[in-house]
Amino acid sequence: MNKEIVVSGIRSTGYLHLGNYLGAIQNYVEMQNNYDCYFFVADYHSLTTHPDPKALKPNVFRVVAENIASGLDPEKVALYAQSDLPEIPELYLMLNMMAYKGELEKVPTFKDKVRLQPDNVNAGLLTYPVLMAADILIHRAVKVPVGKDQEQHLEMARNFATRFNTRYGAEFFPEPQVWRSNADTVKIMSLDGNGKMSKSENANATIYLSDDDDTIRKKIMKAKTDSGPTEPNSEMPDYIKNLFVLLQVSAGSEVTQTFTDAFNNCNIRYGDMKKQLAESMVSFVGPIREKAAELQRDEQAIRKILKEGAEKARASSAVTIAEARKLIGINYY
Ligand code: TYM
Repeated sequence: MNKEIVVSGIRSTGYLHLGNYLGAIQNYVEMQNNYDCYFFVADYHSLTTHPDPKALKPNVFRVVAENIASGLDPEKVALYAQSDLPEIPELYLMLNMMAYKGELEKVPTFKDKVRLQPDNVNAGLLTYPVLMAADILIHRAVKVPVGKDQEQHLEMARNFATRFNTRYGAEFFPEPQVWRSNADTVKIMSLDGNGKMSKSENANATIYLSDDDDTIRKKIMKAKTDSGPTEPNSEMPDYIKNLFVLLQVSAGSEVTQTFTDAFNNCNIRYGDMKKQLAESMVSFVGPIREKAAELQRDEQAIRKILKEGAEKARASSAVTIAEARKLIGINYY
């Protein structure tokens, strides 16, 4: 039986953090044995903010290294750079013909960007979800492992897929669905309690996979807490729940249960909990950081992985684009 097709990508902007790891990469690693997986570095998507041309390659290579260091096996999946698949921009162009200005302007991530960078509201930013749909539909994927922040984009990908199918009278693109194995990790919050952990906001409240041990300790010891619950079995504030999720991931159930009981009995000491979390996070991130650093020293090896990944991915994208062209009527010779 053919395995189901999976696609997901990570932008090559900045350093990867625990949100990327827990919301996305951990799922990739889990899926690689049971699905036909295409995972890529979204370098085209990073161009919306005009990165320094010299920074592009090290950024792309670092994302590849951090994925592999986290357990992704390039023998089992196609791991490639988005810009190595010319079929993606071609499908993006086709889908742009059925993406409407009004709906694109309403996308919350677009509105955020307009607010954050009013001097650079370019068309690439507006059509960001169309490019993302092309990334997914180019392999006719059915499952997409992503964090909560990408759900709206997935819904748009489904809309573009059905619109294409309706217009050209074919059951050509499946409707891709969000996939996740753990509902707790879909939105890892920033340690200061302000919104999600992100590559570009508040580096002091973000744990990067490249952070050294002391930096991890310092950041965790500064994480937002409060004076603790006063009623037994209270609901946890979201920033406390977030620390529990991180504890569960890094220290396991037994340790987490001890602190959960203390919380429920109103005798939790957040200082102790943070010390425990700091140490378990140091043990959790350390091996990934070391492995990623080692991989990045062998540029040749990363180049080979990307080339082979692109070959595997192009075998699939070439078929999709040839059929899409036919359906549209670009079929002259
Ligand atoms: P990006 O690069 O911002 O993030 C990569 C992945 O990490 C997840 N993520 C989080 N998950 C939980 N908690 C957080 N705090 C957190 N922060 C980030 C994201 O949900 C994502 O899964 N547009 C995408 C890249 C992309 C893509 C695609 C993804 C381009 N084309 C096609 C899937 C399919 C992005 O900017 O992700």
